Amino acid sequence: AAAVVHEAENAVVSRGVVESNHAGYTGTGFVNYDNAQGSHVQWTVDAATAGRATLTLRYANGTSASRPMDITVGGVLVADDRAFPPTGSWSSWTTVSITTDVKAGANTVRATATTSAGGPNVDHLSV
Ligand code: GCU
Ligand code: CA
Repeated sequence: AAAVVHEAENAVVSRGVVESNHAGYTGTGFVNYDNAQGSHVQWTVDAATAGRATLTLRYANGTSASRPMDITVGGVLVADDRAFPPTGSWSSWTTVSITTDVKAGANTVRATATTSAGGPNVDHLSV
């Protein structure tokens, strides 16, 4: 099936703000994570059937250092300290993909910053 885009600005945000001051995002904006460990964005993603799914996060990182995040699905860690490398500027967006198992029905996907720098700016999750 075609990937479904889940905008970060419509997700549950803990310690972050929706902004639109850097161009190139989809939808109406992106989430600027607070520069704090544990800041996160959480989406609910529906899967028709159980099985493998590719989770693609679109982000920008205008710094010179990675902004790693833990990715959980249904509370289970599926990507530990996944790197979100620099993209050159805050208006240059790229993607990181993770292939993992999902269950049929609603799946909670959370991306949590693992360092005091916080996460990158996150535009959306597509599944
Ligand atoms: C800048 C940028 C923000 C970004 C922040 C950061 O302030 O404008 O969009 O989130 O840096 O370093 O996290
Ligand atoms: Ca930030």
